[in-house]
Amino acid sequence: MEVQEGLEGVVAFASELSSIVGATLTYRGYVIEDLAEHSTFEEVVYLLWHGRLPSQAELDQQIHDLRSQYALPEPVLDIMHRLPTDVHPMEYVRTVTSVMALYDPDRHDNSPSANVRKATRMVARMPALVAGFDRIRNDKEPLAPKPDANIATNFLYMLQGQDPDPEFAKFFDIALILHADHEINASTFAARATVSTVSDIYSGVVSAIGSLKGPLHGGANEQVMVTLKAIGSMDNVEPYLMQALANKDRIMGFGHRVYKEGDPRAKILGPMSKRMGEKTGQPQWYEMSVLVDQIMDREKGLIPNVDFYSASTYHNMGIPTDIFTPVFVISRVAGWTAHIIEQLDRNRLIRPRAKYVGPVDLKWVPPAQR
Ligand code: ACO
Repeated sequence: MEVQEGLEGVVAFASELSSIVGATLTYRGYVIEDLAEHSTFEEVVYLLWHGRLPSQAELDQQIHDLRSQYALPEPVLDIMHRLPTDVHPMEYVRTVTSVMALYDPDRHDNSPSANVRKATRMVARMPALVAGFDRIRNDKEPLAPKPDANIATNFLYMLQGQDPDPEFAKFFDIALILHADHEINASTFAARATVSTVSDIYSGVVSAIGSLKGPLHGGANEQVMVTLKAIGSMDNVEPYLMQALANKDRIMGFGHRVYKEGDPRAKILGPMSKRMGEKTGQPQWYEMSVLVDQIMDREKGLIPNVDFYSASTYHNMGIPTDIFTPVFVISRVAGWTAHIIEQLDRNRLIRPRAKYVGPVDLKWVPPAQR
């Protein structure tokens, strides 16, 4: 039995969803740069779920379906008010996603059409859940979503209590596109493994949220901002990093299991971070990020991943640092649900093996003799 530590290099599924080749990421055959420039998050969600870009009528219907599901059900909102808020937002999002399952009229229907309806509710409501948490913990009432605004605009509105600057909303929409799917990353694997027992779509998404939370995966975007704040100034970048690397600390937002030639999402997010810094009069976060990037390349040859420049971009949009990973959920729930539907469509139980390396031939003895 050969052990592939971390399943590195193991090809676990055939998938028609997204592909990584070198530094190129595609969703359903479209390169991410094309989608980021021309598409919208709502259209990308359709692409992921249905396998092709929608016609105008299909896109209009998709937007209508999502908007009609924006509001959280009243019982879910009631429960949100009663949950502890001195918790990590990812714990709260994971729990409330599970609660949402209990109030979904399709919860016992695992058919593809019911799964698209449930996925629609999850994608539509995640912004209200995340923004609602931030308002409740700040003793404010959650805001009702605006039915005529897109997901990106609505999230920033519900979080901040005012209509966002259109450029912020556009950049946020692009960030949602860039995070929507990513082949068989850890959280997507968790989602697929969970439903491969023919469990339900909410269980798959809850598993995935738990996986995304960790700092080696989606939790890294929050830690990038924590690091930038700890560095604090351009003068401190070099000494801070050299000390951290001497301590063998991991610098969050760098390195990737698959990309070795660069993460194409980071190449789009870098200029967005720069523009956000100029626009808000806070260029220091981007400038520090560039220097960190240069030193990490020089010292370790490591590339910035999606989480690196998204951190300073979100910070300058006024998003609280501990909300960065829940923002990832708002987008990635589209990809997870697409993978869950694909898994169930061609399901085989996911059940790898473990090579046993513990002791053998032990004989049981009574507790008093141990
Ligand atoms: N900082 C410092 N050293 C690093 C980093 C880093 N960010 N990433 C990898 N290395 C080093 C490791 O210490 C290791 O060195 P060694 O061989 O001397 O021990 C070598 O590079 C290989 O690292 P592995 O952990 O074996 O690589 P793996 O493919 O398992 O890990 C991972 C990939 C988890 C992303 C890693 O690069 C990391 O921890 N990065 C920081 C966390 C992060 O940014 N995660 C987000 C990834 S993108 C996403 O999930 C959305």
